[in-house]
Amino acid sequence: MSVKTVLVGICGGVAAYKALDVVSGLAKEGHHVRVMMTEAARHFVDPTAFAAVSGAPVLTTLWQEGAGEDLYPHLYPSTRADLCLILPATANTLAKIAHGLGDDLVSTACLSLPASCEKVFCPAMNVEMWRNPAVQENVRILETRGWLRLGPEEGRLACGMTGPGRLREPADLLKDIAPLLSSGTSLKEKTILILSGPTHEYMDPVRYIGNASSGRMGKALAEEALRRGANVRFITGPVSDEHLPGGVALHRVTSAEEMLAAARQQLPGCDAVLFAAAVADYRATTYSPEKRGKSEAGLQISLTANPDIAATLCRERTHSFKAIGFALQSHDGEAYARQKLNAKHLDAIILNAPDSMGAETGSFSCLERGDAPFHPWGRISKNEAAKNILNLIT
Ligand SMILES: Cc1cc2nc3c(=O)[nH]c(=O)nc-3n(C[C@H](O)[C@H](O)[C@H](O)COP(=O)(O)O)c2cc1C
Repeated sequence: MSVKTVLVGICGGVAAYKALDVVSGLAKEGHHVRVMMTEAARHFVDPTAFAAVSGAPVLTTLWQEGAGEDLYPHLYPSTRADLCLILPATANTLAKIAHGLGDDLVSTACLSLPASCEKVFCPAMNVEMWRNPAVQENVRILETRGWLRLGPEEGRLACGMTGPGRLREPADLLKDIAPLLSSGTSLKEKTILILSGPTHEYMDPVRYIGNASSGRMGKALAEEALRRGANVRFITGPVSDEHLPGGVALHRVTSAEEMLAAARQQLPGCDAVLFAAAVADYRATTYSPEKRGKSEAGLQISLTANPDIAATLCRERTHSFKAIGFALQSHDGEAYARQKLNAKHLDAIILNAPDSMGAETGSFSCLERGDAPFHPWGRISKNEAAKNILNLIT
């Protein structure tokens, strides 16, 4: 296991005492854990308790006496953190981070986290506070900026009310966080095949049937897989070069049939396949080698269904690999995802809404084979979705 620097920001909520178990668990795993506390947090738990379980002094103020790095607690250790965990995340601190405020140690340290740092927040608050539109908007802002939200869960709250707002249980949080801390090695020696972008089905030399897929999702998946140490084979339909990842074995195709042929060729030896390409469902039954002329009477084109690449590869499976499919549906998403998961023999399916097509963010949900419930991830960036998807493999 590689040792990581974990910065934990404790905020002023009743659930702060539960953070002791999380900090203790991380320290026992051998990570360098540094705790910082808001002033409100210190009304709930004494810093001494966190110092004891983390094995390091607790940071409580911007205005620390000392010299050198000690004089800059908003920069050290935050600029070196591999993971930052805000736990419990209060409505107040969420708002500050979402809006870039830096008027205390925790919020200012969040401003100086490096781009490479995994950022996680674990909200806990009263159910009405959680449902407040301002809080929800701040949560969305953080999620679209790459912060991973864990919880809250539903149940009876300390204030006596029941509903969403409970901090996720420490043992579950430690399980959720584990793959983030092993990133860099968690997919070492694994080979992942990614299908990305749209396909273009030419009906003559200049016109094609296609869709608005940009290839952003596939690129985000490739980059995250590389970060976790995987070998990546990447098959892409026509996308602009800015949506092609570096450091991968790249195979360019145009049509669905070419993509299937390339995927069959690349599949042997793969541990997982991510079917992120938006493959055109139909192609023109006959290709005209000459440009079809314009006619006032209109144009009738006969269409033929393209092969379903995910279903075909899973049906032909001769070695074990994890198959994660994608579905884009404007209505009845959960029922459609469930039906597609089973019909195609996938291990998981990621449902995204039409607003994600060609965009940097999207509304994603996940359905895994077995008993796992349908899991909406909300509106998040594709980079964040890629992390969640690779966590399914890790
Ligand atoms: C008894 C008590 C419990 C509280 N519990 C929560 C809570 O669970 N979640 C939350 O967002 N705020 C809670 N608050 C309100 C915060 O403590 C308050 O908004 C504070 O300013 C948060 O500061 P911080 O974000 O700097 O920690 C609670 C306040 C009190 C008095």
